[in-house]
Amino acid sequence: MLRLNFPTLALTASLAAAGALYAQGPAAPADGPPPPRPPMPAPSNLQALPKDISSESLRSLMRAYSGQLGIGCGYCHAPSASGHGLDFASDAKREKVIARAMILMTADINAKYLAAALPNEKPMTVDCGTCHRGHAEPEPFVPPPHEGH
Ligand code: HEC
Ligand code: HEC
Repeated sequence: MLRLNFPTLALTASLAAAGALYAQGPAAPADGPPPPRPPMPAPSNLQALPKDISSESLRSLMRAYSGQLGIGCGYCHAPSASGHGLDFASDAKREKVIARAMILMTADINAKYLAAALPNEKPMTVDCGTCHRGHAEPEPFVPPPHEGH
């Protein structure tokens, strides 16, 4: 299966670096630094994204999907059995399974088809928002009525 190396990952890596700098921010208070936050559990069910993706990059990618489709995490991720929060590893929702196929499709468009169509150029990159434009289901494009003759 195709493994991804999104340009987005480079972007999110720099965002993460900026975040790390910011996190060091103000000096620790006199009574000592706050206890470190427990790390997010490592992903256990990645089948399209790189398995060694950093949690910062994964989080930014997921936020990007949500924004580009105009949805929340729960549109793709099933509720957890405990009733608290979401079970991100679960594939119970069809939307997540579709999204996984969309991730691979989008990577193929960029790596195979766009690169082959524009071999001597650096083509723009297609992302979820190129088609979805803030909607879970892309809206049909209706060209405006032709003016003149
Ligand atoms: C458009 C659908 C979609 C949205 C919206 C979405 N995700 Fe995901 N998420 C996925 C898919 C698909 C995967 C699995 C990717 C793979 O197989 O490589 C995934 C995987 C994950 C994982 C890794 C789970 C594991 O253990 O393997 C986490 C954590 C996660 N998402 C968090 C979030 C968060 C937090 C949000 C909201 C900010 C979010 N997701 C929004 C589709 C989505
Ligand atoms: C080339 C255009 C295109 C791109 C790029 C694209 N999609 Fe889609 N997506 C579609 C079309 C078309 C559908 C099917 C809509 C329908 O018929 O219901 C769809 C459906 C979906 C659905 C199911 C929506 C629903 O509620 O049924 C999800 C989730 C989704 N896409 C996520 C993504 C994600 C995440 C990305 C980026 C990784 C992405 N898509 C990139 C065209 C695209």
